[in-house]
Amino acid sequence: MAPHFALLILSSLILTTLFPSAFAGVGMREDPFIRQVVDRSGDDNENSLNADHHFTIFKRRFGKSYATKEEHDYRLSVFKDNLRRARSHQKLDPSAVHGVTQFSDLTPHEFRRQFLGLNRRLRLPIDANKAPILPTNDTPSDFDWRDHGAVTPVKNQGSCGSCWSFSTTGALEGANFLATGKLVSLSEQQLVDCDHECDPEKQGSCDSGCNGGLMNSAFEYTLKAGGLMREEDYPYSGSDRGTCKFDKKKVAAKVANFSVVSLDEDQIAANLVKNGPLAVAINAVFMQTYIGGVSCPYICSKRLDHGVLLVGYGSAGYAPIRMKEKPYWIIKNSWGENWGEKGYYKICRGPNICGVDSMVSTVAAASTSH
Ligand SMILES: *[C@@H]1O[C@H](CO)[C@@H](O)[C@H](O)[C@H]1NC(C)=O
Repeated sequence: MAPHFALLILSSLILTTLFPSAFAGVGMREDPFIRQVVDRSGDDNENSLNADHHFTIFKRRFGKSYATKEEHDYRLSVFKDNLRRARSHQKLDPSAVHGVTQFSDLTPHEFRRQFLGLNRRLRLPIDANKAPILPTNDTPSDFDWRDHGAVTPVKNQGSCGSCWSFSTTGALEGANFLATGKLVSLSEQQLVDCDHECDPEKQGSCDSGCNGGLMNSAFEYTLKAGGLMREEDYPYSGSDRGTCKFDKKKVAAKVANFSVVSLDEDQIAANLVKNGPLAVAINAVFMQTYIGGVSCPYICSKRLDHGVLLVGYGSAGYAPIRMKEKPYWIIKNSWGENWGEKGYYKICRGPNICGVDSMVSTVAAASTSH
């Protein structure tokens, strides 16, 4: 652990030294709020005055209020730390825009606990089916399942570590659309309440509501349980204190089989195009401050902590620092439409950035006959 940490600090020092002011004019949107947040000019004194001002705007914009003066002052100090982190993320990730988000009053630990939820103790089962290798020479250069009607609107997991359930429903919604021609929004709450699927090889590694889970285990649960209900028949509450209310008569989508896709990005693209949106895991550290653009950090941990949905890819997102067009993945997140680019995240393709290629699964739906 320690050598990695040292390396990270060393690398960020090098980057800061190499690219001191390269980002001053980088395509910021015409939002003075964001511009100020990532503006590197001005001394620290001025920045700290700005922070109070930004905090006022932040509270208004996201409807934040704090019960006590102590809580308020503590959140202000966390907010200031997050302004610094946003600036450092901006330096490390110049092709994206980083700044104030709805998570700017949370410590990284609170953020991970409340808004992620990939159970890190879980590994892919050794006996997981491997997806067959597909031909890759005829995959289109750009592809987006949103253009083909396979993706439901962006949902919101609230402050519950249930990302894994949204990744799972997203993949099955797409697969069910391919199998039946109908797009049906599926129930995350069923997974949160009813899915306690465990990895038999690892003790204590079970899907557990707001405390995390894994998409592959959730596919396994769904296969065994007989399917998932519709969102409207089993709506999301964002709490895992309820009992399981699964009604087998109301199943709206069934899993036929699921498998793990190889680490190869061309295989991932081919599987996406052939089978529908894919459940993927990612390291979400840059997502706490992400506002838009193609995220392509110079350094990003591959430790997976968030489950999301890969819905497409593009061949050319402009990266101003690298002075060239970068291909990227299009990722549906579960933090509402006000986060990121209308709820979506773009991350560059190529070197398994933030571990995005390391845990990819595809699911096939059985056509429900009614
Ligand atoms: C998975 O299920 C689909 C739909 O029933 C089927 O077409 C496909 O061959 C299955 N794949 C595997 C690997 O069993």
